Amino acid sequence: MRTQVGIVGAGPAGLFLSLLLQRAGIDCVVLESRSREYVENRVRAGVLEQGTVDLMDELGVAERLRHEGMPDPRLDIRFNGNIIHIDLPILTPGRIVTVYGQQEVVKDLIAARLQRGGEILFEAEATALSGLDTSKPTIHFKRAGKDETIECDIVAGCDGFHGVCRPAIPDSVLTVYDREFPFGWLGILSQSKPFPEMSYANHERGFALASRRSPRLSRLYVQCTPDDDVANWPDARIWDELHVRLDDMDRTELEEGRILQKAITPCRSFVSAPMQCGRLYLAGDASHIVPPTGAKGLNLPVADIRVLSRALIEFVRSGATAGLDRYSDVFLKRF
Ligand code: FAD
Ligand code: PHB
Repeated sequence: MRTQVGIVGAGPAGLFLSLLLQRAGIDCVVLESRSREYVENRVRAGVLEQGTVDLMDELGVAERLRHEGMPDPRLDIRFNGNIIHIDLPILTPGRIVTVYGQQEVVKDLIAARLQRGGEILFEAEATALSGLDTSKPTIHFKRAGKDETIECDIVAGCDGFHGVCRPAIPDSVLTVYDREFPFGWLGILSQSKPFPEMSYANHERGFALASRRSPRLSRLYVQCTPDDDVANWPDARIWDELHVRLDDMDRTELEEGRILQKAITPCRSFVSAPMQCGRLYLAGDASHIVPPTGAKGLNLPVADIRVLSRALIEFVRSGATAGLDRYSDVFLKRF
């Protein structure tokens, strides 16, 4: 097989890139190790910054987002029995966040890519990259037990934190900046009516956050230690801590519900530089992860892809490499 841009990974980074390249008439193939059903149902981030919503609009994939997304123009900060209301449009000329699950974004992007005649190879796992320092880099992958290859002009490594692309860059070239913070976030998804506004709580027992994923699905977090175990957190303890930390002592504000998912995320910042090596360009979690605190999960990959897609389009159309050469520096300045 052969393509202009071989994209490893059908997460937000790989899918947004594929649609931007497809719109520019550039041939690309997306390889994804998991099944379509698996990636479309993987519940992860859910807070979309205005730039992400704007890109979905621009790509013509925002129809469901317009109906089902929940604009969040205000947030609360709670501490010592006080609440500060923050009205985002007043402070950020109309720019707000919208809550819409990452799995819904992924469904919309996959549907658009396939409807527009693009290719995604599901259950095709990249195993190695070769020829990165030549003009014909190759992705080696396994599909249905068979070894196959795709020869490309460029490889986009959008395969997340545990993928094969970042490790394909020699250690001697990479500098890794890694910081583990002394706390973690225990996050739950609960079948219950969310708070009307995203609420951040500062409490002497630790931080708590009430967010949401849909009108009947709450996303709630309590700060814990980074090496804590979900086994230490039976449901009743989680609800008790949430009521206390969110200053809902009479238990009238926070609705409890069935807990569908419970996990601890250590708070970690990891950045590897540069984001490119020969004909390989990394984007999204493949290159950097940040703690869940800033809700950047889905938005940072989109910011990478905006810069990378422009540079790739310029390269494919004219052979000019200035944009690609600057890609890593432009992006890493943000950290
Ligand atoms: P990914 O979404 O990880 O996509 C990479 C894709 O590559 C995946 O589909 C993977 O299956 C595929 N892949 C991997 N290896 C290969 C291979 N060898 N061959 C082919 N395909 C491969 N952020 C928040 O803001 N809030 C949250 O609540 C939140 N929860 C999260 C929960 C979890 C469990 C995780 C892992 C992340 C969470 N995040 C959250 C972060 C956010 O989801 C990620 O930052 C975001 O998914 C990054 O997008 P990406 O496209 O760079 O990578
Ligand atoms: C979330 O809904 O997952 C979320 C919201 C706000 C944050 C972090 C995470 O600051």
